[in-house]
Amino acid sequence: MSDPRSDGARDPESLRSHQWYGTEGLRSFSHRARTRQLGYLPEEHLGKPVIAVLNTWSDINPCHVHLRDRAQAVKRGVWQAGGFPLEFPVSTLSETFQKPTPMLYRNMLAMETEELLRSYPVDGAVLLGGCDKSTPALLMGAASVDLPAVFVPAGPMLPGHWRNEVLGSGTDMWKYWDDRRAGLIGDAELAELENGLARSPGTCMTMGTASTLTAAAEALGVTMPGASSVPAVDSGHDRMAAASGRQIVGLVHRDLRLSRILTRAAYEDAVATVLALGGSTNAVIHLIAMAGRSQVRLTLDDFDRIARTVPVLANLRPGGQYLMEDFHFAGGLPAFLAQLSDVLHLDRPTVAHDSLREQLAGAQVHNREVIRPRSNPLADEGGVAVLRGNLCPDGAVIKHIAAEPHLLRHTGPAVVFDDYRTMQRTINDPSLGITADTVLVLRNAGPKGGPGMPEYGMLPIPDHLLKEGVRDMVRISDARMSGTSYGTCVLHVAPESYVGGPLALVRTGDVITLDVAARSLRLEVSDEELERRRGEWSPPPAKYQRGYGALYSEQITQADTGCDFAFLSRPGEVPDPYAG
Ligand code: FES
Ligand code: MG
Repeated sequence: MSDPRSDGARDPESLRSHQWYGTEGLRSFSHRARTRQLGYLPEEHLGKPVIAVLNTWSDINPCHVHLRDRAQAVKRGVWQAGGFPLEFPVSTLSETFQKPTPMLYRNMLAMETEELLRSYPVDGAVLLGGCDKSTPALLMGAASVDLPAVFVPAGPMLPGHWRNEVLGSGTDMWKYWDDRRAGLIGDAELAELENGLARSPGTCMTMGTASTLTAAAEALGVTMPGASSVPAVDSGHDRMAAASGRQIVGLVHRDLRLSRILTRAAYEDAVATVLALGGSTNAVIHLIAMAGRSQVRLTLDDFDRIARTVPVLANLRPGGQYLMEDFHFAGGLPAFLAQLSDVLHLDRPTVAHDSLREQLAGAQVHNREVIRPRSNPLADEGGVAVLRGNLCPDGAVIKHIAAEPHLLRHTGPAVVFDDYRTMQRTINDPSLGITADTVLVLRNAGPKGGPGMPEYGMLPIPDHLLKEGVRDMVRISDARMSGTSYGTCVLHVAPESYVGGPLALVRTGDVITLDVAARSLRLEVSDEELERRRGEWSPPPAKYQRGYGALYSEQITQADTGCDFAFLSRPGEVPDPYAG
């Protein structure tokens, strides 16, 4: 690993922050005076790289509640390497608590990140996050400013425990809730489970959305090696945070900006990583959006193409058996990526090494059951398939490795729900005649219609079928699904129903055919009949009359292009705030 202190220090006058502190004139004098007010001597900061430590800590976010302390370790590293750390609190996106969905606020945190880094005297940034959307949000914002940056993943929480069972957050919550509904456990067991599902600060310890995205960040090359699996409460997490603080100072001296790291090759490798991990379908949307901010065009077809070249090698829940701590001790992402070195771009730089090849040198798998060898994969192809057809002209995705194999080719009659509340209220109504063969359809849950594409995609199995032992059915929606969910759920149908996509035209009783091997999703209704129905369709009324929700609804793009805001994802110049 390159030692930041051995790198040639940059001419202080070439630092961005020099405009704030080092120039002659009233403004610089005022900024220096205000830094004395903060309690710093001139020799503590003048001429040093200013490192913004962006912290998504909050009392309400159990996945990030340790980041208040962890920022101190980052600052320790920054000071050691001769930088000047300044912590900035930014929005917290709690997957658990924020309604209707933190996806509504991913782009807000991306905007906040971008504008803070641009408008303050910042030379480089360390980004602390990890709960689902916070990873893409922070990286989207930082990529748009294009400063040197290092991402510090919040780290997975400890494994869950209940009686003699090891529990995975999310995944086992759904499982035991279904057991409760099926009458297999009672309130006393549920109360015990409350204590055991999430035992420490940190992100979900399954290969859910959080672990998928932090692994993607590491694969992109914006974290320290191995950072994405270090348990949140392990002392190693402090050490990784301090190392990240030391590293960013060297990156500023070398002016190694995110644009040098976040290349097309890096995004292709992140896609391969996510697919070989059997990771969350949410990564499809986030990586496309992140790539867009790096001026890299990444499409659904890239995911489907790369999926056919990589096997699933991570035996992690929800698709497999183990949890993130097991993955960490099995060697973590460096050992995992070393298994994929034939499909990766090894000559690209990372924040820690001149090349990914160097970064992976010597990485070893210590547990072949957790990180499988190529000769014994969990699945021969990557975990996500992209579907096309008259029901999803712009694509849809399915995590087929988390589905019952017998449903991957299925034809059945649709039962359609116009919105989530109606679905919740009526799903158990016997008069709907839902059987195990029914295809459940939910609409108006997409980027505009949700709004924010809530994780409604794992539609519940009706009680009477659960009691008969049915645990999976074909389900189709324009929503997303939690990374810890499972089942034959077709997601991200684009265009969404709310803007008049064909999903808006489906009627209860229509026959739908899913064929994952053929990558096809078809509504067995004639084009003429669909055109007739389209003539009768009118757009639903806007949900937000004012405020951020109205801005969101106006600007949000569809799932296949990453759900960024149109005005944020387009290319173009932004003036330097100090010009004037
Ligand atoms: Fe935060 Fe799962 S709820 S990572
Ligand atoms: Mg989640």
